Amino acid sequence: MNISLKAADKKPLYKDPNAPVEKRIDDLLNRMTLEEKVGQMNQFVGIEHIKTAVANLSKEELKTNTASAFYPGFTHKNVEDWTKNGLIGSFLHVLTLSEANYLQSLAMQSKLQIPILFGIDAIHGNANAPDNTVYPTNIGLASSFDTEMAYKIARQTAKEMRAMNMHWTFNPNVEVARDQRWGRVGETYGEDPYLVSRLGEQTVKGYQGNLNSNENVLACVKHFVGGSEPLNGTNGAPTDLSERTIREVFFPPFKAGADAGAMSFMTAHNELNGIPCHANEWLMNDVLRKEWGFKGFIVSDWMDIEHMSDLHGTAENLKEAFYQSIMAGMDMHMHGIHWNELVTELVKEGRIPESRIDQSVRRILDIKFRLGLFENPFADEKQSMKVRLNPEHRATALEASRNSIVLLKNNGILPLTNKYKNVLVTGINTNDMNILGDWSAVQKDENVITILEGLKMISPETNFDFVDQGWDPRNMNPKKVKEAIAKAQKSDLNIVVAGDYMMRFRWTERTSGEDTDRSDLDLVGLQNELIEKISASGKPTILILVSGKPLSIEKQANQASAVIEAWEPGMYGGQAVAEIVYGKINPSAKLPVTMPRSVGQLQMIYNHKPSQYFHPYVITSSEPLYPFGYGLSYTTYKYSNLKLSETTIPQTGNINVCLDVTNSGTRDGVEIVQLYIRDKFSQVTRPVKELKDFARVSLKAGETKTVTFSITPEKLMFLDKKLNPVVEPGEFIVMVGSSSRDSDLLKQSFFVK
Ligand code: BGC
Repeated sequence: MNISLKAADKKPLYKDPNAPVEKRIDDLLNRMTLEEKVGQMNQFVGIEHIKTAVANLSKEELKTNTASAFYPGFTHKNVEDWTKNGLIGSFLHVLTLSEANYLQSLAMQSKLQIPILFGIDAIHGNANAPDNTVYPTNIGLASSFDTEMAYKIARQTAKEMRAMNMHWTFNPNVEVARDQRWGRVGETYGEDPYLVSRLGEQTVKGYQGNLNSNENVLACVKHFVGGSEPLNGTNGAPTDLSERTIREVFFPPFKAGADAGAMSFMTAHNELNGIPCHANEWLMNDVLRKEWGFKGFIVSDWMDIEHMSDLHGTAENLKEAFYQSIMAGMDMHMHGIHWNELVTELVKEGRIPESRIDQSVRRILDIKFRLGLFENPFADEKQSMKVRLNPEHRATALEASRNSIVLLKNNGILPLTNKYKNVLVTGINTNDMNILGDWSAVQKDENVITILEGLKMISPETNFDFVDQGWDPRNMNPKKVKEAIAKAQKSDLNIVVAGDYMMRFRWTERTSGEDTDRSDLDLVGLQNELIEKISASGKPTILILVSGKPLSIEKQANQASAVIEAWEPGMYGGQAVAEIVYGKINPSAKLPVTMPRSVGQLQMIYNHKPSQYFHPYVITSSEPLYPFGYGLSYTTYKYSNLKLSETTIPQTGNINVCLDVTNSGTRDGVEIVQLYIRDKFSQVTRPVKELKDFARVSLKAGETKTVTFSITPEKLMFLDKKLNPVVEPGEFIVMVGSSSRDSDLLKQSFFVK
């Protein structure tokens, strides 16, 4: 009895896995100095990242270059010492398990042995680190309208992350993408709040589970909020949005993320209506915490607290910026020095109460306890590769890729038969790893199937003549372009694989991705000439696009026989594209964003207000090139028998909608059935239609299935003149069909009394 009591005495309560988390936090907080608490709120980049910056940058750059994550005046040795002294709570940009375990071993030398929480941008698989499964990026996943797949990918990613000792992914990005000049469209789920919400919430659930296991990771819902409709299309530019638009369009996916249990949020780079999001008390405290009941912690984005003083001019200096951000609700500071000393000073000066610091530290420690990091601070090097890139995960990457590729045009040439013996293949994305997309590191060749490799694999009997245009759209060689054009006339068929360049390791050479925004949506370099002249060869031409966002390809699409939007299809993208080209897979994906004809059409969204095209454009069209929800298949679908369970319902009532969908063609397929609603008359203007449900329906050739949707009051609700939620009496139009285009929809009305 005495002996066991003594043993228990030695082990502090916070180290007892059987004690309730609340008690463990109380115990630990009581033992922590102010400096240790403030350190828990700080996140640094990994030491290898710092060493690389030191090796690659000039002395002058090292003083100023924050993007490469060098801490001017400090070395990786300082970071190691701070870790050993328990002054760093989290790291990001740690890309190997050995580095993660090493840093964790330093934290284990600290007095209290509080484990490090490792965060990483695992946006589509843990692709940012080598040797992990790379799934299609979010825009491709959204094109599959597949919420189960979103869950599955997140689940697998969580396992691969934990196998690398990573605990926290900066995903889902649930921003509603409403400006396609913005380079980050590819990491979003597109333009529709309902679709984004459904995919975002499943992603959160897939990552986190109940948090309480070493196969789960913390999700981070980002970026809160509005950065996806920047005033000039550039990343981090101001956004000016009415509270109505914020609440109706931008908030729902964030609320869905919070409701799904997400335990971290990241604030957005931008200012919102004059207030930087990083100091926005309304967002962080009033809405997120009080209105939505969020219990997790909020992390800043890269250098954004700093930008309050060095960019926005809302704080006179860094200390003031830290003060404003913390008092507005910020819990953790991503990347940057001076936090520890300045925040400690602010507390000692009595400007920030220590109780405010305790609140944030509690939230962070809570996650560390719940993820089991105190019990399992390390991951096993020997087990790691058994989890990462395992066959099940690879198969999911391929399946997700197959379901993400959108067939935009087909004059009947696809799927290809082996009648075309000699095929010219050219274009910047033909044989490049760029199919992995933004937020991916370079992966081993053996783990990537490029489009050229996919074509050769799927159609070994075809003679593919590859004219290499390099990977760089800005520096295409006119001689190579000419060579391809000349060969096009002699081939039986031509394939041009065009698009954007997104790989981060060539940061400044990219044409799309984070911090890579455009003032037009045209194909860069000699790509248009290549496509146009090859299409004019008289031989059929297939255009395949690899891009994170819609490009303006009206002329090129008119000329080509078929157009495929492959997005950023991930490690097996080349195989999936080839399978679609040769008909091994019947395409099913639909656009989660509207494809405009030109940049001048922006804002181009399907759920616009009724007056948006009251006066249509002159000279050019007001119609999109391809509408939201659109995508072709090798079979055809017929919609019929639309029936509503009621014609009139009370304001609190539900209504069922059912219809028959028939595969009227000759191939089995999957159809994405979409349900839209319009409130016909209302006290404030409402969108012409809004997606309120969807279903992926697999149908054998000739088969008919009845699809049933349920319309709840929530789906009819909008914000009245005073921004209060209301279901208004009157007529509602239900629209069901294969895309958001009116001619693709069956319609019927019902009334709310
Ligand atoms: C991005 C975030 C990302 C962070 C860390 C920032 O530049 O805006 O989305 O999570 O970097 O890599």
